[in-house]
Amino acid sequence: MVNPIVARSLDEIRFWSRIMKEHAFFLSLGFTYDQKQLIAEAQHFIDLFERIEEKLSRLTVNSEPRLVQAFNNEVHQAAVAIWAYKRKVLGMTLRCEIRHNNYPLLIDHISREAAYFANRLKELNAGVLAPKPDDIIKENVFFLKIMADHAKFIGHLLDPSERKLVDQAREFSHDFDQLLYQAIDLEHMKPQSKTIPLLDQMLDQNRVSVKSLRDFKKTARELIEACRIKSNIHPLLADHTFREAERFLEIIDLYEATLENV
Ligand SMILES: [Fe+2]
Ligand SMILES: [Fe+2]
Repeated sequence: MVNPIVARSLDEIRFWSRIMKEHAFFLSLGFTYDQKQLIAEAQHFIDLFERIEEKLSRLTVNSEPRLVQAFNNEVHQAAVAIWAYKRKVLGMTLRCEIRHNNYPLLIDHISREAAYFANRLKELNAGVLAPKPDDIIKENVFFLKIMADHAKFIGHLLDPSERKLVDQAREFSHDFDQLLYQAIDLEHMKPQSKTIPLLDQMLDQNRVSVKSLRDFKKTARELIEACRIKSNIHPLLADHTFREAERFLEIIDLYEATLENV
């Protein structure tokens, strides 16, 4: 029988290692030509996560749980290291020690994703497969802010002359800010198990909005790839945010399955 912790660990590492590698790549693209040290550090993380992907390809769901646990620890260290690098760049940026083309919110955003990844690995090694009902709201707050941020990045990286798309991105940003606050409101109410219908309702509402944001990102990705719109968005960044929306949808399904088993 497949060990669920092993299967989930490999799945998280497969998804997030590629994401971490791409973050380093996006950061390197945003630096100026004279910021060679920061570019070299970004390149170091691209190589590091590539090596992790290679090791991952040698593991399967039938691998020894002990081996996967050790791998989780190794990847956890890499996730913490890239988190520290991102926070360092954020600090230098906020103190205006460096000027480049990565928005502070974007650097903060990708550091939150690294922290989430590191934390997932720690939880998996502690035997926690999925969040408890009380933690579902907290995780939703995390993902809703991620989605709200994406809408803002897209809106600000599109060419200002793409008025319709900029408006659409702004609407998504507003929609997700509202959902985020709704989730925070619910979090303050400290739900107990009897509020499961409310959690269900929150997940249903979130799913509707994430699906439409996912479709918007898909369209944007296709338009960018075909060079049909003007923007500063790298095609890989468009695909990256699309994949993160797909991931959130999968995670909503996972939460729902957790609630059914309570
Ligand atoms: Fe990301
Ligand atoms: Fe993201």
